[in-house]
Amino acid sequence: MAKKNKFYVTTPIYYTNDIPHVGHAYTTIAADVLSRWNKLQGKKVFFLTGTDDHGKKIADAAAKSGKKPKEFTDALVPKFKDAWKKFNINYDKFIRTTDKSHEKVVSEILQKVYDNGDIYKGTYEGLYCVGCEAYYTEKDLEEGLLCPIHKKKVEILKEESYFFKLSKYEKKLLEFYKKNPEFISPKKRKQEIVNRVKEGLKDLSISRTSFDWGIPLSFDKNHVCYVWFDALFNYYSATRENEKEGFWPADAHLIGKDILWFHTVYWPAFLMSAGIELPKKVFAHGWWTFDKEKISKSRGKVISVDELIAIAGVDSARYFLLRATPFGDDGDFSEQALIDRHNNELANKLGNLVSRVSGLIEKFGFEKADVHIEVSNIVEDVRRLMERFEFDKALNSIFAFVDTLNQFVQNEKIWETGDKKDLYELATGIRLVAVLLWPFIPETCEKIAKNFGFKISLEELRAQLKVIKIKKGDILFKKI
Ligand code: MSP
Repeated sequence: MAKKNKFYVTTPIYYTNDIPHVGHAYTTIAADVLSRWNKLQGKKVFFLTGTDDHGKKIADAAAKSGKKPKEFTDALVPKFKDAWKKFNINYDKFIRTTDKSHEKVVSEILQKVYDNGDIYKGTYEGLYCVGCEAYYTEKDLEEGLLCPIHKKKVEILKEESYFFKLSKYEKKLLEFYKKNPEFISPKKRKQEIVNRVKEGLKDLSISRTSFDWGIPLSFDKNHVCYVWFDALFNYYSATRENEKEGFWPADAHLIGKDILWFHTVYWPAFLMSAGIELPKKVFAHGWWTFDKEKISKSRGKVISVDELIAIAGVDSARYFLLRATPFGDDGDFSEQALIDRHNNELANKLGNLVSRVSGLIEKFGFEKADVHIEVSNIVEDVRRLMERFEFDKALNSIFAFVDTLNQFVQNEKIWETGDKKDLYELATGIRLVAVLLWPFIPETCEKIAKNFGFKISLEELRAQLKVIKIKKGDILFKKI
């Protein structure tokens, strides 16, 4: 597969100890938008999501509910799959870390890294947060030995453990960041990682003996693999199957800002050690609060996927999450804010435009004509913004174009003139809007396409571009 013409996007694999909520939906919708957008550009796309089934967190949650871990996670997986179906998420593969094919790849890689001399045996005593599945040093904790993320007291763990020589990769990582300035995105998150790496990297404990819910180490079956080593390799193991071979390396790992360290330090170091090519980009999005409170099961509020959809429908939820806040920033979710955008932007602007124009066309018909609307800039604008994952700005620019179309109807008083050529022009504009918005609100755009008799496709977009070329610069009207 030509590397230039493929796009491989991933979401984190979600822990199966909780039902999917707005935070999970956010990354998954964003990945779906990127996947659809790249398909529109004619690329071969591989979109991966899934679940993180192993580790102490899951084992503990299963024990609490009196179930075996596998049984426990099996019951949660359908909840994720259902949620993504409801949201029109078109993933290509749903991976679980309990998949045999994944376990096999992880075992092989562990052996390889071990054979390379990057894994050695030692003892570990440390402060462990089960919520994060990570050890902390005291200075990173809040008063009372509380985890800074979960605000829960960490546990003291002492165990025999295998260590990964992370310290060996300090310089190599720093060089890699330098050579690949886009690897840690957005830019504002990069320096923090670089500084922490510069402070020095300690070797990382990558095995556990205190529980057995994980992948056994091939060179010592008393140990199971540390859940993050196991989990991160999902991105790679998914491409080791038959026709997915050519998709590695990933073009974009979308994640939340809380797991940036794992993805930009551990992950590339593991890959370097295993001799595997590194991903192109890790993009960390911000966190949602709900009415200004933290979203979590243990503290604060949770908004489930069903509750989210019930407010104003699937497309409005998809639209809101990507429009309301820049992808790298934190945002506050509120029902009112979603309803406002649904009413003002989707119903009043887009909905009215489409129903007005289609109504007028039904009444007056239309006549093929040269198109004067200046659309070249908007297509280029949107493309540039999508490449930078600036979804909010891309939507803004599409909606500025919707405004332009609405104003055109208004200024020309089309309902009085019934000008067929103007109506043709408006229909063309709407087709373009529907193609550009399709990655974000697919259901709505497919309805528009059906009513206007066209297919959402790259050809459609190209046809629009051809039209523009003819009349470029010949502007009929400007936005007021
Ligand atoms: N299993 C790990 C990821 C392993 S990837 C190799 C994990 N799972 S998680 O289920 O806890 O979280 C998954 C993602 O959800 C994270 O990217 C996290 O940032 C995101 N979110 C959880 N709550 C969130 C919000 N309130 N807002 C936005 N995203 C949030 O971590």
